[in-house]
Amino acid sequence: MRFSKLADRLAAKRNRLYTEYEKAAASGRPVLDLISTNLAQQGWVFPQERLQAIQAEAAPRAQIYRPDPLGLPSAREAIADYYRTAGIPASAEQVLITPGTSLSYFYCFKLLASPGEEILCPRPSYPLFESIAELAGLELRYYRLRESRGWEIDLDHLESQVSTRTRALVVISPHNPTGMVAGVQSLQGLASIACRHDLPVLADEVFSEFLYDLEALPRAASTAAPLVFTLNGFSKMVGLPGLKLGWILLSGRPARVRRSLEVMELISDTFLPVNDLAQHMVRGIIENREAFASACLPWLLSCRRIAGTVLSQCPGVCFSPPRGGFYLTLKVGGAEVDEEALCIDLLREAGGLVHPGYFYDMAPAHLVLSFALQHELLSRSLKALCDGIQGWKKRQAS
Ligand SMILES: Cc1ncc(COP(=O)(O)O)c(C=O)c1O
Repeated sequence: MRFSKLADRLAAKRNRLYTEYEKAAASGRPVLDLISTNLAQQGWVFPQERLQAIQAEAAPRAQIYRPDPLGLPSAREAIADYYRTAGIPASAEQVLITPGTSLSYFYCFKLLASPGEEILCPRPSYPLFESIAELAGLELRYYRLRESRGWEIDLDHLESQVSTRTRALVVISPHNPTGMVAGVQSLQGLASIACRHDLPVLADEVFSEFLYDLEALPRAASTAAPLVFTLNGFSKMVGLPGLKLGWILLSGRPARVRRSLEVMELISDTFLPVNDLAQHMVRGIIENREAFASACLPWLLSCRRIAGTVLSQCPGVCFSPPRGGFYLTLKVGGAEVDEEALCIDLLREAGGLVHPGYFYDMAPAHLVLSFALQHELLSRSLKALCDGIQGWKKRQAS
């Protein structure tokens, strides 16, 4: 029997770090996952009583299945309300419900590009797009984020990367894994490029509720870009990844929005993949979202402060304080550092799993970790990590 080339490529993607991690877990050696994004594991869950009440209220309405490929009108209306509250003019007719942001990307890629054409993404980036682009048969091209300037978007480089095959510009803000939040000027610059080359913008805002030292999230949907797909969902916003509910807000020139929705409706209609009960719960969850975000934000702020304090005392380690999300990117040296060997060493010696920067397509040498961890444990683990980095560097030098 033969499998596809894609099947072979995906199977070849296993790496040494995770093989080591699985070995350590199997041997019973305690290893702390310092890269987990699951706030529920840290005790932060959407208030259970409210969730149950929302579900109980939704259940009778979901009894008769009346699928709508664009999503339940009441859910689309609730999402439009969410954007209007944030100052973005939006109507239910501009919203498409999806089974999560990863699938939202897939829909956008399929709508906008044909096999062999390109999507322009930030580098570094969460490795999600590579797999989605591969499944969609597309090529990725990258624009730089400038580490020396808090990972801001390098607009000149972005524009230089636009080719005749480019079909969309992706912006992730707050950005995973650097914690960068694109400012109004960066987004306006991006929109000007989008206008000049007549390109749509995909704006990933999944960490929108987790902002530090910022009043509000600057949004691509507020710019003059000709067509903007704003992606978000319940996975991070309210800590309910298992609900599998995301959405796309389409904005920009009305004829383009209409045409995009017509096609996306057909894509979604092929599978009708969104859970009906979850859609009936959207309004209740949106109306109660503050009960989750406001509760864990002060805790995350303390995590961020602790991480900043410990890491700023770690010789040879630099980082930009994240302005959003739950991740930190550390610069730990230059090309002389073998990131994977360092991560395996930290796993064995410091008992912590962190990611090498190359997972995110970064120039050497970086480490990526999450700072969303119980405070005492965070402080202890980061100190162990710093000692581990110093110890490894000394051993390499000797
Ligand atoms: C930046 C970013 N976008 C999208 C996703 C995927 O979101 P979802 O869980 O809704 O598919 C993630 C997941 O971690 C992410 O970090």
